[in-house]
Amino acid sequence: MLKIKINKGGIPLKGKINISGAKNAALPLMVASLLTDEPIALDNAPALADVRTMSNLLGILGVSVDCSGSSMKLTAKDICSTTAAYDLVKKMRASVLVLGPLLARAGQAKVSLPGGCAIGVRPINLHIRGLQTLGAEIDLQDGYITAKAPNGLKGGAINFDVPTVTGTENIMMAAVLAKGITTIVNAACEPEVVDLAKCLNSMGARIHGQGTQKITIEGVDKLHGTKHKIIYDRIETGTYAIAAAITRGEIELIGEGLGALMLGTADVFEQAGISIKKTELGLMVSADKLYPVSVSTEPFPGFPTDLQAQIMALMCVTKGTSVVTENIWENRFLHVPELCRMGADITLKGTKAVIKGVRKLQGAPVMATDLRASFGLVLAGLAADGTTVIDRTYHLVRGYENAVGKLQACGADIEEFLSNKSPYEEKLQRSFA
Ligand code: EPU
Repeated sequence: MLKIKINKGGIPLKGKINISGAKNAALPLMVASLLTDEPIALDNAPALADVRTMSNLLGILGVSVDCSGSSMKLTAKDICSTTAAYDLVKKMRASVLVLGPLLARAGQAKVSLPGGCAIGVRPINLHIRGLQTLGAEIDLQDGYITAKAPNGLKGGAINFDVPTVTGTENIMMAAVLAKGITTIVNAACEPEVVDLAKCLNSMGARIHGQGTQKITIEGVDKLHGTKHKIIYDRIETGTYAIAAAITRGEIELIGEGLGALMLGTADVFEQAGISIKKTELGLMVSADKLYPVSVSTEPFPGFPTDLQAQIMALMCVTKGTSVVTENIWENRFLHVPELCRMGADITLKGTKAVIKGVRKLQGAPVMATDLRASFGLVLAGLAADGTTVIDRTYHLVRGYENAVGKLQACGADIEEFLSNKSPYEEKLQRSFA
């Protein structure tokens, strides 16, 4: 089991961090390769476990994936399978993104139902309803979605009950090759959706309105290959900004367009006392005095749920009372008991977490429950007195490229190691040492 150990918290982090390409942009962009028999060249691809899982899935479907550093070439000359099996879908829910493109290109798809995950039920009813509106016949049986459109998909009017990021992406990728016009009302406006639309348009698609709540897609007969640079990861940017603040350090975050990607986050950070200044290469982040905040997670351009655990870690050591409300996922507070084991004072009241800042957190063995919660615990450990050992960090490598290396380069006393021991055995061993 891979673990992360922060030998000594409280060291102010100083240095530069290169921000990677966005995981949640890279995954749908890779899937877009299913829509054409010509190569798609992606630049700025992050080296992540989820990117590897997506490469494996696409490989099974017939896509050749060639990687060299952060460049990736995907070619789907022939689709040789239209089935995404449970084994891969259970590892990564974004696998459901192949449903729309497979239907559009091959007229059929069989994709395992993803099921719930640690952060919530995570339904895909809106993806299914949207594809039905485009004329797909859909059966749910034996844990699989079987979808058919033998005569091709037809444009239609879709109105989502709630904005769904991968739902919008799935429908967009199905509708680009459908006959006629599709409208998506209450579409997700996230930058990753906009990046996908930009890439699809460069392949010959006709998508308008991306980044607003109404997207219009005029179907075309065929798409061609393209070259596309994946946008930088706004969640990784926010996470390392919090790392600078929680350790009272100063980090330059390097990447193109990071300022614009902080929309929805920058205001909250400013209220919290985090200073963000534009530099030639990105953003300089530091903090002196921190302030409590009331923050609610919302769809873009609201504060992202994927930074909720991290801002909570910061509030744990910020004098005063903060309130964090989680509006997207019903079960995304699993990091709370772990933070409390480190001395945090957090009370949960339904969707709200009331956090009373403490002077110091204490290092402890803790358990990561999901990707973003893992980094919330790393941040807490970076600020805490003593040693923190974080178990189950396989979650973290799904979405943060070389996190330990990037933190070490800024002076953190952190390491990764393989261990078969539980966090409790680790603690026992330390207390006898
Ligand atoms: N929803 C439905 N029905 C659906 C789809 C969604 O009711 O068919 C609801 C969900 O239950 C949730 C809300 O709509 O309450 C938003 O869910 P959304 O579909 O937008 O989430 P997602 O597309 O599955 C993406 C990111 C998540 C991120 C959410 C919200 C990717 C691959 N994943 O998930 O990222 O939390 O949007 O911003 O883009 C992460 O990176 O750690 C992560 C979990």
